[in-house]
Amino acid sequence: MTNSIKTFAPATVANVGCGYDVLGFALEEYGDELTLTERKDDQLVIEIIQGVSGIPLDPAKNVASVTIRAILKDLKISKGFNIKIKKNIAAGSGLGSSASSAAAAAYAVNKILGAPKSRKELIKFAMEGERIASTKAHADNVAASILGGFTVVRSYDPLDVFNIPYPEDLRVVIIFPQVEVKTSDAKKILKEEVKLSDAVKQWGNVAGLVSGLIQHDFERIGNSLQDVIVEPIRSILIPLYREMKTIALRAGALGFSISGSGPSMFCFVQKNSDSSIIIERAKELYGKSGINIISFVSRINNVGVKTLD
Ligand code: HSE
Repeated sequence: MTNSIKTFAPATVANVGCGYDVLGFALEEYGDELTLTERKDDQLVIEIIQGVSGIPLDPAKNVASVTIRAILKDLKISKGFNIKIKKNIAAGSGLGSSASSAAAAAYAVNKILGAPKSRKELIKFAMEGERIASTKAHADNVAASILGGFTVVRSYDPLDVFNIPYPEDLRVVIIFPQVEVKTSDAKKILKEEVKLSDAVKQWGNVAGLVSGLIQHDFERIGNSLQDVIVEPIRSILIPLYREMKTIALRAGALGFSISGSGPSMFCFVQKNSDSSIIIERAKELYGKSGINIISFVSRINNVGVKTLD
């Protein structure tokens, strides 16, 4: 019998305002499905990519095959696989599209090989996929997609990633204007250096956000969702960012920021609050400028990447 596995890896929100390259969480909506089937030779072949266009079929350039190759190399295993990918997040969305493919691939090949690596160990291989997609091997999206829940990348060298608790009643509203922002471009425009006074504000907010999540303090979560370092620069790439942020905060959102490198934006709300107002006003705002948006409310997904039947 041919050995085959189908996996699903969720979309993610990285940075979470103040935690550039450090904080992330997984969404329940959206994600990638990947089917891996063993071949008789040692080739990696991307058979089909459904759902979005423009993703490379060349195994040397595709995040899924690059991730699989990194795991096989580490394990010194010579095996080949056919790969089918079904994406429902466009590349350049800010919802961790490349990370979902990398996470789904890492989990699938590990599972087919009898799980020699733990979930946490898979993160560094999925980061190799991210390196191909965005020129930098950031871990905040892949960590959240693989582990699920709310994740912290405390250190890159050595890699130290863990989950933190969060309130069950936390919901996230996503607003995704249909324009593309490449993560590599959104990284290039950032300054290499940070003013100490800005760093002090950012540290305070990271500590406040983590504390608010752990203690279920919604007011502190909202107050801490501020980014004085990255948002002022990247928000210029997102149409109507300031207007959208003002609308969301006036409608009662707990903070508002860019999801990953944008153009998606997100805000937190409490379970029973009326998030439909934020979505309606976002549709009005972008509609007036002729920009379509995808918008939805999600819980935080605490499962992460998984096998599908
Ligand atoms: N932390 C990364 C960045 C996430 O902001 O560039 C990209 O989705």
